[in-house]
Amino acid sequence: MFLYNNKLNLFSLAKISQKYLRVYRWNPFLYKKPWFNIYPISIDSCGPMVLDALIWIKNSQDSTLTFRRSCREGICGSCSMNINGVNTLACLRILNTSEKFITIYPLPHMYVIKDLVPDLTYFYSQYKLISPWLINSKPSQGEYLQSKLDRLELDGLYECILCACCSASCPSYWWNQDKYLGPAILLQAYRWVAESRDSNMVSRLNFLNHKMRLFRCHTIMNCSKTCPKFLNPGKAIALLKYKISAL
Ligand code: SF4
Ligand code: SF4
Ligand code: FES
Repeated sequence: MFLYNNKLNLFSLAKISQKYLRVYRWNPFLYKKPWFNIYPISIDSCGPMVLDALIWIKNSQDSTLTFRRSCREGICGSCSMNINGVNTLACLRILNTSEKFITIYPLPHMYVIKDLVPDLTYFYSQYKLISPWLINSKPSQGEYLQSKLDRLELDGLYECILCACCSASCPSYWWNQDKYLGPAILLQAYRWVAESRDSNMVSRLNFLNHKMRLFRCHTIMNCSKTCPKFLNPGKAIALLKYKISAL
């Protein structure tokens, strides 16, 4: 199970209780350049995850440190950041590993609002482009039913929390963010294409059938490697391409 997660190997690493968090800082209103702060922490003084350490630092060492978080459970997608080179959720990234230094950046190739907070405005506007809601032109009979098998088609898709870890790890998205929808939005697009209660599949596919919106994916698979929810956006993109080829 843990082999699946390239970010850590929980059982082979010895505990180091004294650690240093090296955190990217940036405040465009006060300073001209970003900088790093190094915060000493003891894993015995805070909870078990990197997010716990950040909260502890904010409460006890530096109240100006800025990051997003809400659920603390890997559900809201707020605390995505780059931790020791891997895009992941700080609330799911364990602290108790053999690393003495943990370097934390905001998600790469995103505009930064402050410290670890990326600007996701454009990401959400791309999400809106795929009409992420049920479209059914048949007259409503009160509720739209779905078989168990059709419901199973949504497994591995509906769990996406739009944390943007995958899109921020995708080289095609880094360089063509203005035109390429990126893995997170394309996985969500496939979620609606695979939805048996939706009657808009063909126009959804026609919208995606575009050399930049979808076909900019070169199957590098960084997206699937980094997803903290163990989803497979690369596969969803391949299925979209397959469905388009069958139109
Ligand atoms: S596919 Fe995974 S990494 Fe990408 S937005 Fe969804 S949950 Fe996050
Ligand atoms: S598989 Fe496609 S979407 Fe995923 S990282 Fe590679 S190019 Fe990006
Ligand atoms: S705080 Fe919600 S996903 Fe991490």
